[in-house]
Amino acid sequence: MLLLDGKKTAQQIKEEIQEAVRLRKAKGLRIPHLAAVLVGNDGASLTYVGSKVRSCERIGIHSTLIQLEENITEEALLAQIESLNANPDIDGYIVQLPLPKHIDEQRVLLAVAPEKDVDGFHPLNFGRMALELEAFIPATPFGIIELLKRYQIPTSGKHCVVIGRSHIVGRPISILMSQKGPAGNATVTLAHSRTENLKALTLQADIIVSALGIPEFLKADMVKDGVIVIDVGITRVPDAAATKGYVIKGDVAYEEVAAKAQAITPVPGGVGPMTIAMLLENTLLACQRKDALAN
Ligand code: GUN
Repeated sequence: MLLLDGKKTAQQIKEEIQEAVRLRKAKGLRIPHLAAVLVGNDGASLTYVGSKVRSCERIGIHSTLIQLEENITEEALLAQIESLNANPDIDGYIVQLPLPKHIDEQRVLLAVAPEKDVDGFHPLNFGRMALELEAFIPATPFGIIELLKRYQIPTSGKHCVVIGRSHIVGRPISILMSQKGPAGNATVTLAHSRTENLKALTLQADIIVSALGIPEFLKADMVKDGVIVIDVGITRVPDAAATKGYVIKGDVAYEEVAAKAQAITPVPGGVGPMTIAMLLENTLLACQRKDALAN
């Protein structure tokens, strides 16, 4: 069984970005600058955003964390977005999701300037991605593609079953893996909560990407021998014995599925670290594209 080590691969990618940033600095070019907008005090969101900001600092990318009150109005949040759009020092930024219920998420994501949309959530980027034009690709699917590519996992002609149709992971990875190009040319089935007889599909799959958010959902009797499994789930499961009071569980019953798999990502240490690395990659790309436009 081959462990698809996202932690190690993300480290390599971050070193490559660090070197690219160092070279920019040596040439007198601008240092990329990422901003992150966090609304409210959700524990998981605070952890993710903190991790993104710390990663920037470690590799020499500038970062700004903008923390806003849970009860901020939609108009005040939109004003903050407009100011980030207009700020020439900021190359890219993200608005951490989910947003509080009183805020219209679609309206906020539409307000993000597409050239600064390093999460790739704006319809312009999503549409460009789907049409195989230059775009920002959402960090999680981008990380999955990069992991498959770097481990040289064959995808061409293979049957890939994606579980979950979210706009952030399931839908974009199903598009990317069916496209021509690296980690592409797969025959993709996009399964979701209304799918009938999911097990019949997963039993046929050469590759399974699970982005469902149900801990240990995918069991050994649902996969064939030699399957390749990408586990996108990161659910906090309460556990009184754990120091933090919870443990992180993936969508996959790891031990039993790993015993049948040809290759598998662990949780933690699989897709999670890749997501952060690709956000930094997108920030570097935003900075480079901005320079290219100015010249
Ligand atoms: N919430 C869960 N995943 C993500 C992500 O990739 N980006 C943002 N902005 N919010 C998220």
